[in-house]
Amino acid sequence: MIEAELYQKNLDFWEDAWQRVKKANTSIPDVLDYIPEIPQAFKKHQCQNILDLACGSGWLSFYLQEHGFKLTGIDISPSAIKLANGVLAERQLEDINFVEGDIFAMDFPENHFDGILINACFEHLDYDRGKEFLSAIKKFVKPDGIMFGVFDKVASGEKGTYEVLEDGSHQYNDEYRDGMLLRYYNDDELDALLKESGWQVDSLRKNDFGSRIVVAKNLK
Ligand SMILES: C[S@@+](CC[C@H](N)C(=O)[O-])C[C@H]1O[C@@H](n2cnc3c(N)ncnc32)[C@H](O)[C@@H]1O
Repeated sequence: MIEAELYQKNLDFWEDAWQRVKKANTSIPDVLDYIPEIPQAFKKHQCQNILDLACGSGWLSFYLQEHGFKLTGIDISPSAIKLANGVLAERQLEDINFVEGDIFAMDFPENHFDGILINACFEHLDYDRGKEFLSAIKKFVKPDGIMFGVFDKVASGEKGTYEVLEDGSHQYNDEYRDGMLLRYYNDDELDALLKESGWQVDSLRKNDFGSRIVVAKNLK
């Protein structure tokens, strides 16, 4: 596992980054071709109560709530959660709730959620934490509940703007991303990690950007 101090730099980066944002952006980027597949997958598997992991300022939670789901978003950055709660107050929405917290220290009841969303989250974890994460989140999802996970092809930054850590993660050191951690999990690693942690892949496709879009079932 990479040193706690280096991992902490990644967390500090996120809080700094979110502090600079004045207003949450809730628009849906056209470039992300898989977005409509998220509500489709949750509907297909009869999911109602969804956990949006590392939700940032909550744009995907708002999107899913509009599609009729009940949402809980969790993020470690107080500033991100403040932005999300700002939108919530403005729109006076029900069936949506944001929690400031660490994805490794969640205290939701066991089997509480039908589905779990992982977007732009996993690749910010080093290998050992990535492995731990895939196992740790299972207890909050019902047996046969599903994960919709997007596993991006990342860490292709210019040499010199990052250090390569012992597990292959890149930790950026340029002005705008100082501390941010990115690790590219290749297809074989991802396949092995999902299997080992007891997620049974229901569908997996790769888009034009090399993101692996995975729907997987929670085997208990
Ligand atoms: C690239 S952003 C993605 C946000 C959102 N999921 C999205 O799709 O836009 C990564 C997020 O992960 C959050 N994060 C990183 N480590 C975390 C942790 N240990 N617990 C909770 N949130 C974390 C950061 O604060 C940041 O908001």
